[in-house]
Amino acid sequence: MNSVSSNEEKTDIYSKEVLISREEINSRVEQLGREISQDYQGRELHLVGVLNGAFMFLADLVRHLSIPCQICFMQASSYKDQQVSTGEVILMHNLDLSGKNVLVVEDIFDTGLTLKHIREDLNMQKPASLEICALLNKRIPDKVAVDVKYIGFEIEDRFVVGYGLDYAEKYRELPHISCLD
Ligand code: IMP
Repeated sequence: MNSVSSNEEKTDIYSKEVLISREEINSRVEQLGREISQDYQGRELHLVGVLNGAFMFLADLVRHLSIPCQICFMQASSYKDQQVSTGEVILMHNLDLSGKNVLVVEDIFDTGLTLKHIREDLNMQKPASLEICALLNKRIPDKVAVDVKYIGFEIEDRFVVGYGLDYAEKYRELPHISCLD
């Protein structure tokens, strides 16, 4: 019974519009890796992946870096099984980034609320530098102003899943990005 309902869910999600294919993601992530490697030549980079959504992006991105780096994670939650933000951001980590060159790796820059909180929180640790890389930038009105140095793709205001992004913890495993609406 369980396997039947899970197959039905898969069939359903695979029939949705693919916004960004696996090939497009691969090629853009490779470009980003090259760009970041050039920008951080001669420095050790501390990558901070934002869980859960950025796990796949970070794993692919680091394979395209040609500089020494350290990898750690923090957890951020602002959505509770729904497609609109609650406005509340909860951050959890045990990081010590003082004096480090930090690059936060996030899945999507939507309203910007989460990234604003992350920036403020990590800045208190006085890193040597702090930049943000987001796979997606959603074009919506009234975004919170946050400096995001590296962006993979600009997308319109639609709810997307796959390649780490979820809806109610589902669909993170998809190798591409699909629209749920
Ligand atoms: P923000 O604080 O509004 O920028 O959104 C932060 C978080 O909301 C992201 O890290 C995602 O986890 C989630 N989110 C925003 N838009 C989407 C979407 O289209 N699909 C899945 N998750 C999303």
